[in-house]
Amino acid sequence: MARVSPTFTCSACGAVTSKWSGRCDSCGEWNTITEDAPLSTGPGGKSLAGKRGKRIPLTDLATEEAPVPRQMSGVGELDRVLGGGLVHGAAILVGGDPGIGKSTLLLQAAARFARLGVKTLYVSGEEASSQVRMRAQRLGLTESPVQLSAATNLRDILTTLEAEAPGLVIIDSIQTMWSDAVDSIPGSVGQVRACAHELTTFAKRKGVAIIMVGHVTKEGQIAGPRVVEHMVDTVLYFEGERGHQFRLLRAVKNRFGPADEIGVFEMTGRGLAEVKNPSALFLSDRGTPSPGAAVFAGIEGTRPVLVEFQALVAPTPHSQPRRSVVGWDGGRLAMILAVLEARCGVPFAGLDVYLNVAGGMKVSEPAADLAVAAALLSAREDSALPSDTVIFGEISLSGALRPVSQSENRLKEAQKLGFTAAIAPAGGKPPQLDGISLTRPPDLAGFVGEIFGAGERS
Ligand code: TYD
Ligand code: MG
Repeated sequence: MARVSPTFTCSACGAVTSKWSGRCDSCGEWNTITEDAPLSTGPGGKSLAGKRGKRIPLTDLATEEAPVPRQMSGVGELDRVLGGGLVHGAAILVGGDPGIGKSTLLLQAAARFARLGVKTLYVSGEEASSQVRMRAQRLGLTESPVQLSAATNLRDILTTLEAEAPGLVIIDSIQTMWSDAVDSIPGSVGQVRACAHELTTFAKRKGVAIIMVGHVTKEGQIAGPRVVEHMVDTVLYFEGERGHQFRLLRAVKNRFGPADEIGVFEMTGRGLAEVKNPSALFLSDRGTPSPGAAVFAGIEGTRPVLVEFQALVAPTPHSQPRRSVVGWDGGRLAMILAVLEARCGVPFAGLDVYLNVAGGMKVSEPAADLAVAAALLSAREDSALPSDTVIFGEISLSGALRPVSQSENRLKEAQKLGFTAAIAPAGGKPPQLDGISLTRPPDLAGFVGEIFGAGERS
């Protein structure tokens, strides 16, 4: 039989090459390329092709499945992000910047679940047991029956888990874990991948929920290969700005619930407290109406959240004006500036533009376009928008406004927080809501006229 030439695969991105190299040409990762094992052959070197396997059972889509068993923590913000409580046997990855509060969040969650009768183990590879105990003391959690261990050897950990049979295990962090099956240092791509794989398989096999903490690289991705994110059932990111006390737990992937769901917490002297009404928090420091501020009625996951966009527009001393964005997409800002200029005759040439979402919140919805345009116009004209008005709608390149989903939920939230007016695109079914007056401009030019009076542009 002809000898098959060997192939090599990158363990980080999956690219296949015909020869080994130290660095993957596709993704640029080092030391990730390994030789593939030759395709298995039958006795005597005969290929398995043509040999018959056994028939696999087939079912239809209507097969009745019992709902997956879940355990609520009682912390609404956490349960919602998990998709309605913790699923037995789920593998969950929680990523976030160092010092953002991952260990605090998970220790508090562990204490909650333990108190509710779930046997809970907290394995810390980063801190000594005494450090974790000190934190528990500060958080007032010492009474909770969480079992604690400081360990990094995965084989020992799995043996212990097998014997203890817990319902929930916290691994803090996956980068400190070390499997003797892989010949590289802890934190390396190979180790992270192998440990995450072993833990995920263990979770499935034994029906144990495992939460792994993952550190995030400068680019904001969980350090180690992307494949870890594919392996687990749920990927949560814990985010927040250093200077702010708000923390957002965001589901970016969830096999057991909606992605894009957020939970809002506040870091206090006694750990993380849940924030039941995030809109009130994000808008709390609004004083007198100021130019450049516009309130956007957004939707995060399944929940409406009001946030404030703040813009500053000033003559630039440079030949290239600055465009600076925090909490929103820079490309989208450029687009809105271009549409304002091309379709409404409002130029931003020669002006620096700064855009910020208040409270350290990140917004990704296109529905925020109109609120951004409003903030930019208000800043440029140095004239404040009415403080009782919320704005939402998507802007297209033609300058038309597109209606967005869940208008009614957005308006209800605005009304709940005391807003009495809203500006949203025309089109679609008008939402039925009393107590909030709705203005529906047909296009962006109409919107500009609506908020500042038409024909004043220079
Ligand atoms: P930590 O959970 O250790 O972060 P991570 O595990 O993501 O690296 O949290 C560290 C920060 O949280 C630290 O700077 C102090 C702050 N913190 C409080 O403000 N209040 C508290 O009760 C606790 C425990 C921590
Ligand atoms: Mg930590």
